[in-house]
Amino acid sequence: MKTNDQLEPNIFVIFGGAGDLTWRKLMPALFDLSQSHSIPLHFSIIAVDRVELSEEALRKHLHEGVKKFARSGKTAAKEWKEFSRHISYVQGDFKSNATYKELSDQCSNFEQEWGAKAQRIFYMATPPSLFGEIPSFLNYAGLAADRERSRIVVEKPIGHDLESARALNHTLTSGFQEPQIFRIDHYLGKETVQNILAFRFANPLFEPIWNRRYVDYVTITVAEEVGVEHRGGYYDGAGALRDMVQNHLLQLLCLVAMEPMVSFDADEIRNKKVDVLHAVRPIPHDTVHHSTVRGQYGNGWIGGKKVRAYREEDGVPPDSHTETFAAMRLFVDNWRWQDVPFYLRTGKRLPLQVSEVAIQFRAVPHQAFPAEATLDWQASRLIMSIQPDEGIVLRFQAKHPGPKMVLQPVDMRFNYRESFATPSPEAYVTLLSDVINNDATLFMRADQVEAAWRLLMPVLDVWKASPPNDFPNYAGGTWGPDATQGLLVQQGHSWPVPVELAGRSPRR
Ligand code: BG6
Repeated sequence: MKTNDQLEPNIFVIFGGAGDLTWRKLMPALFDLSQSHSIPLHFSIIAVDRVELSEEALRKHLHEGVKKFARSGKTAAKEWKEFSRHISYVQGDFKSNATYKELSDQCSNFEQEWGAKAQRIFYMATPPSLFGEIPSFLNYAGLAADRERSRIVVEKPIGHDLESARALNHTLTSGFQEPQIFRIDHYLGKETVQNILAFRFANPLFEPIWNRRYVDYVTITVAEEVGVEHRGGYYDGAGALRDMVQNHLLQLLCLVAMEPMVSFDADEIRNKKVDVLHAVRPIPHDTVHHSTVRGQYGNGWIGGKKVRAYREEDGVPPDSHTETFAAMRLFVDNWRWQDVPFYLRTGKRLPLQVSEVAIQFRAVPHQAFPAEATLDWQASRLIMSIQPDEGIVLRFQAKHPGPKMVLQPVDMRFNYRESFATPSPEAYVTLLSDVINNDATLFMRADQVEAAWRLLMPVLDVWKASPPNDFPNYAGGTWGPDATQGLLVQQGHSWPVPVELAGRSPRR
């Protein structure tokens, strides 16, 4: 990565600069980057928003977010003063040419002051309804005319279905070329998610068994304890399938199932990932009910606290049919994975926050041990723990100490906290640094996004055509509807009990 004096001058424009994402994620990440000298010497942040605020009031508000969320935020008052000088505010309507004129003047002023052309990054931290409009205004104002130096960053959701995703991609590409478009999936910025590639392709140990001959099935779990919090309005129009599966879970699937890349080039890796999505067996409409499960949380208890039902959350209609839980069985039809089930599940108000990928290996071909030795026998399992624990667990059989041959599963653990002195950076720190460095490896390309939507369209169609009549169908604080177990039991499989890396025993 380049040092800050090697980086070209940079103007970082945030549409939605007074909003929640900027407050919670973007500004803390930019501040952390400034503290590690990873932003250019000539750097300016222009927040654009409709809210009437003085520049000083905006900076004060952003400082609160930085104190709360940035790694170095609490301890660096002097540094904040220095950093906040780089923040300016353009107040205006996102759909008015006057706003873009003012923005353009500001950009020109900075470039004049620095005596050099700047890279211009336009970050869409606005409601999705504006994703299609802002690029047209930028285009019209000539703000992104220098294709070598401008990029646009778009947050999910990229569309609502295949058609709207295509339309949005079309609008984006009318003002920007594909290499200038950075579509964020913040899971790809997580250290443990990037480590999936490191683990698979930097060690010759596991790759030979990473296939249908040795792997029985794979589970991908992204469980959240939280409910929809203050986002009921957005979430009710989305649901778990659009909010989590279409992006985060399918990205994890791609990293686990992809073929080895030839180089670390952004497009090479993205080609390998999109190959996986193309290989996923299409789900025929008439099998959707058989291979998917949807759920919505009712009242329940989590960590000794009573939690209210989804339909009682703010911004959610009392008769909502939106799913807060989704699970499915997929197959990747290629030489490596033919007929190996990949089970995906995600939900809100589950018993704990845990994201992990578990590779369940096949049983030994011949069990030679006496029956008494294998009462506690389990097939080997590799668990890639993404959060909140960060690490990898390999579970295998060992002989229990004693005069008799008795087998018992034991764990070998790698834990980030114990192995590395430096804590993992927050995903947005990694991703914003990549945007500044013009590295698109961890961002989604248009064809990936569309392939993911294409895959899920039959599920969205069937779920829409047959509204559930049993919602809410799981209590807050449980592992989702009963049918989730059924999805695996049919094949004699089971969801793994999430592992605790730091402690000794598995979490129930
Ligand atoms: C977001 C979803 O993309 O990811 C949220 O919109 C979800 O609903 C969040 O809570 C989960 O992210 P993380 O990093 O907390 O696992």
